[in-house]
Amino acid sequence: MSGASGSKKSILLVVMGIAIGMALSSLRQDSNAWVEQMSQSSVALLGTSVNGGQEKTVESSLRSGEDERRMGTNNAPASTSDELLTSWSVSTERDFFKIAEGYGTDKVRGYKNLPKCLEDESKCDRPEAPERQCKVTGHFYNTMYQRWLGPYSNDNVEPFQFLEIGYFNGNGFDSYTDFLPNAEKHSMEISCLPEGPRSEGKWPWGNFARHNRNYQSLLDARRLHCGDASDFDFLHKIYSTEMQRPDGTAPALKVVIDDGSHVSEHMAMSLFFWFPRIAPGGILVIEDIEPMSEASVFRRQIMPQVHHDVHYCGLKEYGYGGKGEPAPCFPTIQPLLKSIHCEMHICVFERNDVPASDPPKEQSTIPPGAFDAKKCLFESK
Ligand SMILES: C[S@@+](CC[C@H](N)C(=O)[O-])C[C@H]1O[C@@H](n2cnc3c(N)ncnc32)[C@H](O)[C@@H]1O
Repeated sequence: MSGASGSKKSILLVVMGIAIGMALSSLRQDSNAWVEQMSQSSVALLGTSVNGGQEKTVESSLRSGEDERRMGTNNAPASTSDELLTSWSVSTERDFFKIAEGYGTDKVRGYKNLPKCLEDESKCDRPEAPERQCKVTGHFYNTMYQRWLGPYSNDNVEPFQFLEIGYFNGNGFDSYTDFLPNAEKHSMEISCLPEGPRSEGKWPWGNFARHNRNYQSLLDARRLHCGDASDFDFLHKIYSTEMQRPDGTAPALKVVIDDGSHVSEHMAMSLFFWFPRIAPGGILVIEDIEPMSEASVFRRQIMPQVHHDVHYCGLKEYGYGGKGEPAPCFPTIQPLLKSIHCEMHICVFERNDVPASDPPKEQSTIPPGAFDAKKCLFESK
């Protein structure tokens, strides 16, 4: 190849490169303009929607993302056309963040507390925490709730049953009430037991629930159930009489949320009691799986065993050290378990398609040795 023809080819390649670059950049601009236009037109279209603007429009989904970015709690990149298309296709979902923020529940209060704490350390609850979401009390649970409960918030969803453990002053329950209009919602709370000593099965420390404006009507409708959500007899009585009613009128139980005591034994009880009773495809959510003394045993001992069970095949040759894999860690949970999904301090346990059942007490309570992960994960293999 002569030097002249070589340099002509190089010039041609450079020119072609510039032309392709310009074409690509113009395409990108076009697609950005399209995305922007689509965002605006969908906002215009959906901005007129019903239900007091509580539905999740493209605008609101972008706005909450922007808020998160502003507060430095969201590492996600700016919206892409994929995100917009997803928002478009789920545009009738209600917006959990907006609703929960309105009621002041601690499920999303981290967004309010964190910026103040980052500006002034004296406003942090745990300034020494290197992980910034841990510097404040108040959580960032809207992303998990939007992802997992968002589809249930649509107007056209089949009626279903929902249970929250831990009513407190009802701010969380009020949020779920607006967010999930088609749910038959139940809650359990210990502090509305009759006042008196614990030794008599009563509650001496004041009734937190009575401050809610719906307290009496929820009691009258038998949707708020006063009792100890770690007690099998109480759970079973409420489940079999008020939830799965003998006349068969109850919709399928799809969602159970444990926001109760956050004591490891109680969290484990929620898993072992409720998971078999949740309908196929439903979820159990456990909140506040935090590194604090009450919840840590659940986080360190129970969670790894459930994780083991997600991957369980039951084939001997898959075992550790060639000794086989003789049993799931939790034989009453593993056959029902599709997946577990966690974000900081909150996990979702997803049911597979095995039908719900009402197993006897010995299969609905914490099995012996459950709090010693070593026994299942290492010693017995
Ligand atoms: C974290 S607060 C619930 C907050 C509420 N879900 C919200 O989002 O606003 C926990 C509540 O669980 C209640 N609780 C504690 N132990 C319980 C138990 N064993 N059974 C039922 N409720 C319990 C407490 O009295 C308290 O009201």
